[in-house]
Amino acid sequence: MSLSLSEEAGRRRTFAIISHPDAGKTTLTENLLLAGGAIRAAGEVAARGERRRTTSDWMKIERDRGISVSASVMTFEYNGNVYNLLDTPGHEDFSEDTYRTLTAADCAIMVLDAAKGIEPQTLKLFEVCRMRDIPIVTFINKLDREGLDPLELLDQIQEQLQLDTAPLYWPAGSGQRFGGMIDMRTGEFLHYSKRTATEGLTPGTSARVALEDVRADVDPGALDELDEGSEMAREMLPKMDRQSFLEGHMTPIVFGTALRHFGVGELLATLEEFAPPPRPQSCHKKDAEHVIARDDKGVSGFVFKIQANMDPNHRDRVAFLRLCSGEFKRGMKLKTVAGKQLNIHNPMMFLAQDREIAETAYAGDVIGVPNHGQLRVGDSLSETGDIKFAGIPNFAPEILRRARPKDPMKAKHLRKALESLSEEGVTQLFIPAIGSDMIVGAVGALQIEVMAERMVTEYNLDVVFEAAPYNVARWIAGDEAKLAAFLDKNKSASGTDLDGAPVYLAKNAWDVGYAQEKNPDLRFTATKERAV
Ligand code: G4P
Repeated sequence: MSLSLSEEAGRRRTFAIISHPDAGKTTLTENLLLAGGAIRAAGEVAARGERRRTTSDWMKIERDRGISVSASVMTFEYNGNVYNLLDTPGHEDFSEDTYRTLTAADCAIMVLDAAKGIEPQTLKLFEVCRMRDIPIVTFINKLDREGLDPLELLDQIQEQLQLDTAPLYWPAGSGQRFGGMIDMRTGEFLHYSKRTATEGLTPGTSARVALEDVRADVDPGALDELDEGSEMAREMLPKMDRQSFLEGHMTPIVFGTALRHFGVGELLATLEEFAPPPRPQSCHKKDAEHVIARDDKGVSGFVFKIQANMDPNHRDRVAFLRLCSGEFKRGMKLKTVAGKQLNIHNPMMFLAQDREIAETAYAGDVIGVPNHGQLRVGDSLSETGDIKFAGIPNFAPEILRRARPKDPMKAKHLRKALESLSEEGVTQLFIPAIGSDMIVGAVGALQIEVMAERMVTEYNLDVVFEAAPYNVARWIAGDEAKLAAFLDKNKSASGTDLDGAPVYLAKNAWDVGYAQEKNPDLRFTATKERAV
């Protein structure tokens, strides 16, 4: 049976997982993929997570393009829906990469370690989701270990994230005493035992029984906690309201233990019930504001990530295109607003189960477009070439370094490499107005390390990254004449970025404040949306 465009797009759920390192993102990913039948053996994803833990190993993975390209998005089907799980980079730095990936997600799962609650990185990533109005489902993980009181955890979410919490389940104890959880809406009990029968169940889900029937098998203390906690939650907490969730005011809560395969199917069922299908995307069409719906006929999408291809000898790149509308077919021609046309003969698709449908893709899906550098992060592609989605911003770097080739003869070569990596979005490149310095900017330290590594392995360049004379970069915009006058007066503290946009290169934040005060008609901004 073939589905209509609207049905195909409507059954897509594109999401990312956000968490503090070690909360269990990799384990959960693996179990979601297992439940969805996209991988067969446990350990496939965990091995990757394990290797990622140290910086150098993470870079080894990055070099091993095969793994990292195919792992950037993982697609699986579950109960008739198609899930696209976007892989947010697993390192501790907040990087632009994470932000860009989240721009392509319609929903996020926030994983919390039940013993730790909200951790610094959870908070940072949550803020990114909030900026993009991404609704969040919360998975409280590691219930098989002694955890905080669930009410305390929900309180943290309420207090620190200003999100209403709607527990769909309530756990019976934790750690050794963990007995399972009750479905707050139906009153059924999901009995946790390491030997939970799975026969006849949707993969990943647990059997449901009447609590009365298993009371004798559950730790009495855990039962008390369940009775008391769920009672209080019913009285004090709001009921799940999908609209409020979609608007980013409420998060449904699922408890479980990814490692013990408990609660994972219920988490997927929660996505199925509440997660939004591909959202309408605002854009400019022929310079007028416009909204693209997922079932609009013309194919459109935007590039949220670029990755250098597997073969370092060829400068091929893969652009990850998040589709926003239409039915994409292999071999299609798509255009950028700047008029570049790409014949997409060999799109990479990431459908694990059904190779046949890899010939087509719909809104919410991600395809990899091999190209020779024509595409950049933030580019919009469409059949008509007149659609421009809101850009993906650049963030002002927190780290600035002067890049210098050990061999002075290689300066030109270095500049090309830095430009190329900047186009890929690995790091940013600033060229000061005076002198011949090349200033590299990054939001996180790891970006600099990745770049240094790639300089050696891919460009065969020995580069020194040293302290730069500046510590802060801000884009400058405003009245043209005043901007020109400012740049003229501050030649030694200004430059341009990759797109030629003017940048103020300051010694410190105080200088920026001062410049802003003295130049009220100019804007010194920490983000820049790239105009195409
Ligand atoms: P991350 O991607 O968020 O960094 O976390 P990851 O899944 O790698 O999990 C971090 C550690 O937490 C791993 O243990 C993992 O096995 C464990 N873990 C994940 N989910 C659960 C859970 O539900 N219960 C328990 N008890 N542990 C869980 P590790 O010892 O660091 O690694 P490993 O040797 O087990 O792979």
